Amino acid sequence: MPALQSPIPWVGSKRRLRDEIIPIIPEHLCYVEPFSGSAAVYFGKDPSKVEVLNDVNDLLINMFEQVRSNSEAFYERLWWLLASRKLYLTAVDQLRFNADKLTDLDRAVLYYFVIKNAFGSMFAKGFGFSRCQPPRSAITHDTLIALKERLSNTFIENLSFERCIKNYDSPATIFYCDPPYTSSDGTKEYQHVFSPELHENLRTVLSKIKGKFILSYDDTPQVRDLYRSFDIRTTREITYTVSQKRKTKHELIIKNF
Ligand SMILES: C[S@@+](CC[C@H](N)C(=O)[O-])C[C@H]1O[C@@H](n2cnc3c(N)ncnc32)[C@H](O)[C@@H]1O
Repeated sequence: MPALQSPIPWVGSKRRLRDEIIPIIPEHLCYVEPFSGSAAVYFGKDPSKVEVLNDVNDLLINMFEQVRSNSEAFYERLWWLLASRKLYLTAVDQLRFNADKLTDLDRAVLYYFVIKNAFGSMFAKGFGFSRCQPPRSAITHDTLIALKERLSNTFIENLSFERCIKNYDSPATIFYCDPPYTSSDGTKEYQHVFSPELHENLRTVLSKIKGKFILSYDDTPQVRDLYRSFDIRTTREITYTVSQKRKTKHELIIKNF
């Protein structure tokens, strides 16, 4: 199966680092992403016998479920959504204040539209427009069908990472973990707090698993200290633009094998 791109951009996506992560995935039966986000690594790798995508974000997980189980209707509905600021603001309001009255399909389409059109791909961050790129929300039918097929054999979960890791752990499991950075509490980027205690919980949980893990993280003294007894290496530098300024940074890759 050819490598795919995730249908959505995501803060902290590993789209540009997946070529350093995929080659180190060891032999396994079950592949699990407890912090899937846009699942850039999953979409780039060959399918495993058992695969699991999990994230605490229910709008994101509902979107993947609808792409898998309702792709034709998803496509039809997206067709009518133009990259308009007014539509964007209405969609954000619907998701914020009316989500429980929407169908799963409504929420999935609106969430996809909002993330694709949001400034910096951050939910409700403002309408992202550009002088040099066309709007990003369009998706072709062929792409959607390829994504549906890729997702068709995957367990899609909306659990906390602790529960997900406990449920799918086995000696033949590989967890690819990409938690929020330690340099932020996670709320601005992901609308869910990821406190220092959760970073410690993750280390405690991963220290006890029967399976293997690969973990990517920001390079901070806290992370280096938490994982000092594991194999730690650095990725290459990646250049990105924030507020029209170019920055470079690398990440840490940590593993227990
Ligand atoms: C750095 S992003 C993952 C990016 C992903 N690897 C990609 O390529 O797009 C971290 C993800 O962790 C999720 N998350 C935050 N707290 C969580 C928790 N307690 N349990 C599971 N997922 C959580 C966020 O919703 C976010 O999607």
